[in-house]
Amino acid sequence: MNIAVIAGDGIGRDVTAEAVKVLGALGEVTGRRPVLEHLPWGADHYLATGETLPANGYDLLRSFDAVLVGALGDPRVPDNRHARDILLGTRFELDLYVNFRPVKLIADALCPLKDRGTKDVDFVVFRENTEGVYVSVGGRFKAGTEDEVAIQEEINTWKGVHRIIRHAFEYAAAHGLTKVCMADKSNAMQQGHALWQRVFKEVAAGYPGITATHQYIDALAMFLVKDPGQYQVIVTNNLFGDIITDIGGALQGGLGMAASGNLHPGKTSLFEPVHGSAPPLAGKNVANPIGAILSTALMLDYLGHDHEARIVERAVSDAVAAGATTTDIGGTLGTSAVGDTIVRAVKSAR
Ligand SMILES: NC(=O)c1ccc[n+]([C@@H]2O[C@H](COP(=O)([O-])OP(=O)(O)OC[C@H]3O[C@@H](n4cnc5c(N)ncnc54)[C@H](O)[C@@H]3O)[C@@H](O)[C@H]2O)c1
Repeated sequence: MNIAVIAGDGIGRDVTAEAVKVLGALGEVTGRRPVLEHLPWGADHYLATGETLPANGYDLLRSFDAVLVGALGDPRVPDNRHARDILLGTRFELDLYVNFRPVKLIADALCPLKDRGTKDVDFVVFRENTEGVYVSVGGRFKAGTEDEVAIQEEINTWKGVHRIIRHAFEYAAAHGLTKVCMADKSNAMQQGHALWQRVFKEVAAGYPGITATHQYIDALAMFLVKDPGQYQVIVTNNLFGDIITDIGGALQGGLGMAASGNLHPGKTSLFEPVHGSAPPLAGKNVANPIGAILSTALMLDYLGHDHEARIVERAVSDAVAAGATTTDIGGTLGTSAVGDTIVRAVKSAR
């Protein structure tokens, strides 16, 4: 495995250091050491050089099997230019159209909902990752005045909508799941989301063994809290997926627990925790590294190393069961001590 590592900014660096330790331990256990190349891209690099990423940056990323990212975002770069180029740019340039975000509660004690537990929180979200309102199409007229007009277009293409919905059904079929729920706002957004309605019905017709349902995104946000057990697979657009997977993070115990993959099946893909760079926590050895470590498990799965992925997941579950966690989820340990605990569990695995 040749892996590019972009630790990025803030707690991205803290949690990535632990994910890298876990990958190293796994290499010791299996005898197959991943080759990691650390790329310095992030706010510090941008502020020092004026470069967000080099001219051949996206081609360079394509030359790896996968990319592991921490988080990007720094108050010293208020327009977030570097994050846009490095993260959104990579999603667009490498055409990583699937944002895969599993929402799985790994211990009842972490559930924020009354009378719910691990059996109720176990679903996956497929967020469209290359279109929607994130494409920066639009503009501002009379900026800075009281007559300012700001237009931010939402782009929905048949190709983009079709491939993410089809991926959700394919995933369900491959994993023995029987329910796919599509969430949109087609009652209010009658142009773009009519396309989602049409394509969802067309694709669903090809999977008669899977029950296809639809919910408006606002209702789905409510049901995620009231009755998350009803979901197996959710598919939605870029913005809505971004928002509801933060609710998903909370259902897992906190944002620090949530992992994700940005995929173009068969091609170089990018793995990162769902959370951001949390500047106030940066460098304080308090960030929860589990989302980053579980993102490496998603990466291992994607690269066909499912045995290794299960070792990492079991090591994380054991650490959580033993209460060896950071304070955000009720433990007393620092970031690196949690990483060390998980490393020890990985090394004792067979
Ligand atoms: N994928 C990414 O790189 C990504 C995602 C989201 C936000 N951002 C950027 O991150 C910066 C901060 O954004 P934000 O504050 O809205 O979101 P954030 O995810 O950084 O933090 C939100 C809240 O969750 C907590 N939190 C997040 N991750 C945690 C962890 N691992 N352990 C413990 N607590 C954790 C933080 O303390 C904060 O209270 C911004 O610049 C934003 O643009 C980047």
